[in-house]
Amino acid sequence: MTERQPKTFYVTTPIYYPDSDLHIGHAYTTVAADALARWYRLHGVDTFFLTGTDEHGQKIERRAGELGRDPGEFVTEMAGRIQDLWRRLGVSYDAFIRTSDPRHQRVVQMIFEKLHRQGDIYRSRYEGWYCTPCETFWLERQLAEGSCPDCGRPVELLQEEAYFLRLSGYADRLLDHIRRHPEFIQPASRRNEMVNFVLSGLEDLCVSRTTFSWGVPVPFDSRHVVYVWFDALINYLSGLGYGSDDPLERARFERFWPADVHLVGKEIVRFHAVIWPIVLMAAGIELPRKVFGHGWLILEDGKISKSRGNVVDPGTLADRYGVDAVRYYLLREIAFGADGYYSEAALVHRTDADLANDLGNLLSRTTAMIERFSGGRIPEPRPGDGVLREAAARAVRETTTAMENLELSAALGAVLEAARRANKYIEEQAPWELARLPGGGDRLAAVLYDLAELLRVLAVLLSPFLVVAPGAIWEQLGIARPIGQAGAADLAWGGLPGGLPIRRGLPLFPRILSRGSANAPR
Ligand code: ME8
Ligand code: MG
Repeated sequence: MTERQPKTFYVTTPIYYPDSDLHIGHAYTTVAADALARWYRLHGVDTFFLTGTDEHGQKIERRAGELGRDPGEFVTEMAGRIQDLWRRLGVSYDAFIRTSDPRHQRVVQMIFEKLHRQGDIYRSRYEGWYCTPCETFWLERQLAEGSCPDCGRPVELLQEEAYFLRLSGYADRLLDHIRRHPEFIQPASRRNEMVNFVLSGLEDLCVSRTTFSWGVPVPFDSRHVVYVWFDALINYLSGLGYGSDDPLERARFERFWPADVHLVGKEIVRFHAVIWPIVLMAAGIELPRKVFGHGWLILEDGKISKSRGNVVDPGTLADRYGVDAVRYYLLREIAFGADGYYSEAALVHRTDADLANDLGNLLSRTTAMIERFSGGRIPEPRPGDGVLREAAARAVRETTTAMENLELSAALGAVLEAARRANKYIEEQAPWELARLPGGGDRLAAVLYDLAELLRVLAVLLSPFLVVAPGAIWEQLGIARPIGQAGAADLAWGGLPGGLPIRRGLPLFPRILSRGSANAPR
């Protein structure tokens, strides 16, 4: 890594609403956060990765009601299903926060009370509109033809006594912070949107509700429950140990806060880059270093949505194509930040083209040749022509830079580029001809060593992204150490000892479509 390597790394995903099963869009953010966490762990950085569920609010209460279920019991079941999905996708979170956890609720109450005591939260009356699916308050003038400007669904009129958070008083401080920290809101297009949003004038935010009860009670006024977004954002503190009775948890908070990056979808950047920093400023807590708003996965017929019934279950995809194919597709297909189309046909194409053809073939060709021309053992290292050594060094450099800039797709692109270079190298060197050439043995050994060594390094580079193939590559190369123990030192060229007996195995990625088959699944 470069001098930009942090001492600790704290990454979060949004905490998802457990009103129904999650889809490929939620998997997108979570797998991206997982790749970042694994990347920093690989580099020996003390890392904390938090995800969880946003369990309160009117939407959840209604959904439970429709199902005739107790909300608490309902969200417990749903949170279990979500954890199960993350297990199937190889998501290595360090903690899973549920907002119904009493320890979280206490922190919410503590902060609400502090802000009330100092006058940043005050009581008044809310008259305006509310979108329950988005859990968002809207002013009349913000509506789009009478509906929610974000999701287009109907809004409801609310008229109730409520507590308000004084956002207006913090606008200048927030703008100043955004200007002095250009990395705070990323990508830059989202930063501009947020600056314009704040400049257009911040209304104080309603932060309590009285017309339903599934939420954190306002500590000094039990007719009110805390607004679900105020409740939810605080997970980033409580999930780390803020305000805990346990000194170890408090120490963990001190070690990791402020968050290095909150990964979120673009539709909730506003909550994370305007409301959240203001809550923190008011509470006297340092602001996160970065809010990154990535784009949406969309389907050809529009946004993935539960009500359209076009939801794709990521667990089913993982069963069908393998967890690595799903993770690779999500992280490689779309530049992180931009919107992009999801399709199962594209997933299949990506898997076959990159993982089966480029990476998988490189491994099977290399191990087959080592078996045939080197008695099944890795040749002793010797000075070669440096072509693959340079390709590996470039992949390490480019991947590192890309990861520092949260360009996950570019990072994977750099790894696959090296694999393609190596396949071309096999054609150029034609080891089968070297084997017939009198005196070709030295060059043959150098070529085979370099191919195996490149694969060893690429497996390490891939290990934050894929969870099965990197270990399988090491095993086939005969490396006994589990790849989970790999560190940054394993990215250096020359780590593979000569003489290891290789262990050829099954193809890493059997082709999904047979060659020439015209019809991809849709
Ligand atoms: O907003 N494309 O939860 P949520 C890409 N509970 N990402 C998508 C996506 C898509 N089509 N659909 C969902 C909430 N996501 C709140 C968050 S945080 C304190 C509270 C991802 O269940 C993306 O990360 O609606 C998006 O922001 C999030 O899921 C919304 O999840
Ligand atoms: Mg949403």
